Order: sequence, then C-alpha cells, then structure tokens
Amino acid sequence: MNLNIAVLAGDGIGPEISKVGVDVLNAIAKKYNHTFTYQYAHCGAEAIDLLGDPFPAETLAICQNADAVFFSAVGHPKYDNDPTAPKRPEQGLLAMRKQLGLFANVRPIECFKNVMHQSPIKTEILQGSDFICIRELTGGMYFGEKYQDNDKAFDTNYYTRPEIERILKVGFEYALKRKKHLTVVDKANVLASSRLWRQIAQEMEPMYPEVTVDYMYVDNAAMRLILSPTFFDVIVTENTFGDILTDEASVISGSMGLLPSASVGTGTPVFEPIHGSWPEAAGKNIANPLAQILSAAMLLEHFGLEQEGKTIRQAVQASMDAGIVTADLAGDAQAYSTTQVGEWVVNYVASY
Ligand SMILES: NC(=O)c1ccc[n+]([C@@H]2O[C@H](COP(=O)([O-])OP(=O)(O)OC[C@H]3O[C@@H](n4cnc5c(N)ncnc54)[C@H](O)[C@@H]3O)[C@@H](O)[C@H]2O)c1
Repeated sequence: MNLNIAVLAGDGIGPEISKVGVDVLNAIAKKYNHTFTYQYAHCGAEAIDLLGDPFPAETLAICQNADAVFFSAVGHPKYDNDPTAPKRPEQGLLAMRKQLGLFANVRPIECFKNVMHQSPIKTEILQGSDFICIRELTGGMYFGEKYQDNDKAFDTNYYTRPEIERILKVGFEYALKRKKHLTVVDKANVLASSRLWRQIAQEMEPMYPEVTVDYMYVDNAAMRLILSPTFFDVIVTENTFGDILTDEASVISGSMGLLPSASVGTGTPVFEPIHGSWPEAAGKNIANPLAQILSAAMLLEHFGLEQEGKTIRQAVQASMDAGIVTADLAGDAQAYSTTQVGEWVVNYVASY
C-alpha cells in the first residue's frame, strides 16, 4: 500500500517520539512491502516562533493532501505561563481538529501485562480492563463563545443535534464491534447541553437494539473508572469531560506514555499520543515512545493493515515483557532511553 503521511512533531518531547514512530513505520513498510512517504510540517510553539502561526496554511495544505497525519504534541511553558499571549500552541491543535473536521477522538485504554504493577491502582482491580473512550472533539466549551475581562469570564458549552448525533453514532458503532455496552457520560442533572445529549442518545437506542446503554454522570464516571474500570466497554462523552476522563484513565495503563489515539471525522485522520509535550523532558531522551508507536498501529489499522498493526502491538508488549522500558515504567529496574526502546521495537518488527 502507498500511504502519504503528514508528520507534525511539534514541541517538547514531540520531535524525539515522532522520530521513533517514523522509524517503526519504516520498519513495517520494509517488512510488508509498503511505501510510506512523509511530508514534515510545522505546528505549535515552534510554528509560532518560525512562521507566526501555530497551524500555518502550509501545514493545513500538507495535512489535507495526506492520507493520514502522524502527530506528536504541542505546548511550551513560555505560552503556558503567559495567559495574555495572543497566539498559543494549543490553538494549532484546535485549528487542526476543526479544519480537518475531526469530531471524534478514539482513545483505547488497556492494561499491559508486566507493567500493570506500575499503576497506583491495585492489580486485582485493573485486571481485564479494556475499554474505548470516544471523546467529542470539535464542539462544546473549547469552541463555544468565550468572554474574559478583569471581573468576569465565561465559556459556552454549545452543542447542536447533528454534532451530538454523529458522535453518538460513532459510540454505538464501536459498541457493536465490541462487547455491545455503551456508557453515555454526561451531567444531565445540571447542564442543559447534557440533557440534549441524553435525549438524543435515548432516541437513538432503538436503532441499536443489541447495544446495552447506560447513562452515567461524569462525577460518578470519574469514580467508577478507578473503582471498577472493568465495568466499561465503550464510553462516549463531550469534549471537556472526555479530555479530563482520559487523562484519569491513563492511570489504569500505568503511564501517560502508553496511550495512543485516533481522531477521525470528515477530513484526513490524525493519529497521536494522548499526552502533551512534557517540556521538562525535552531533549533528555527519557520520554516513553510507546504511545506514539501505538498511534502508528492505529494508523495502519485504520487503513485495514491489521497484521501490521498487530505486529506493532506485539512488539510493544514484548518490549515491556523484556523490561526494555523508559523510566516511567521501570520502577526500581534499569530504565532505557527513548531511542533504545525505539530501536528495540524496530529490531523486533524487522525480525518478526
Ligand atoms: N495533544 C497535545 O499536544 C497536548 C495535550 C496535553 C497537553 N499539551 C501541552 O503540553 C504541555 C505540558 O502539559 P502537561 O504537563 O499538562 O501534560 P503532559 O502530558 O505533557 O505531561 C504530564 C505528565 O505526564 C507524563 N508524561 C507525558 N508524556 C509522557 C511520555 N511520553 N512518557 C512518560 N511520561 C509522560 C509526565 O510525567 C508529565 O509530567 C502544555 O503546554 C500543554 O498545553 C498538549
């Protein structure tokens, strides 16, 4: 297969993990006779510094012309610590999602054997956890009308029926492919936007008679994720709740550096780790590259390359079984660098 991939490495640890991810894609291409070509483009703080825009028009054009975007992370402390900065790296991320029409962010959460003990949650609670969180990505508070002066500020949690229907459809369809259990997370006891979500989900239920649907307030969901993560199969929720719950859910896997995601919608799909640019680790070669590598697996599976995705997943599990892990997963054992973990995975793929 020929795939034209836009690579957006971004800021902080982004370039380091991006390089590892591309190395793994190249190993797969070589092994399975595919041709992957890469177009590199700027985004985030580095794009503001270079071109004055966190998601420049050239980057949008490269993404639009690609089959997939392989994204890493954006964000820099000089913007985090300056609330008055007119241009911010994360605007680039939001612009990319909006302009590519990526309304659904799909985040699989699973436990990996041999690193489960790194989670602060007891192993007997975690064992068997395997669910997908589907987060609405282009609506809600992050995009609604905003206002701020010295005395007051507001953000608007605005959702329309078509926006809600299309993301719930993604949720129902994922549930059909899995254990047929969908949990709609909202705050319908307080928020009007949540009540519309719940109403529409209830209207859609008869179209998916095989799917068992339950409705859970977000505060309860936050607790259940930790107390009984095996309860969940597919979670669907709005933008803000999904953002928060998936960071919380990363604790189930044992590290932020283990969770990949796919963002899909009407334009070019984007595959990226869920974590940020971890600026404190930039240039230190200590970031866990596995979330980026697993994002490569999701990219390949999106194009039907199931065996290729499986090869990457097995390589990732094998690296953990062999103890070839970065500091976040090493505990008291030896920690390997970002590049060492990457090289190990590449070699495993080559000799698979
Ligand atoms: N998608 C994105 O690009 C994205 C997402 C979240 C935050 N951000 C931005 O990233 C910057 C830092 O934000 P933050 O500190 O809240 O989140 P972060 O995800 O960058 O880091 C939070 C913590 O997670 C751990 N972590 C993250 N990535 C890891 C990896 N690959 N390996 C091992 N551990 C890892 C580290 O302990 C780190 O302290 C900010 O500028 C923020 O706006 C970007």
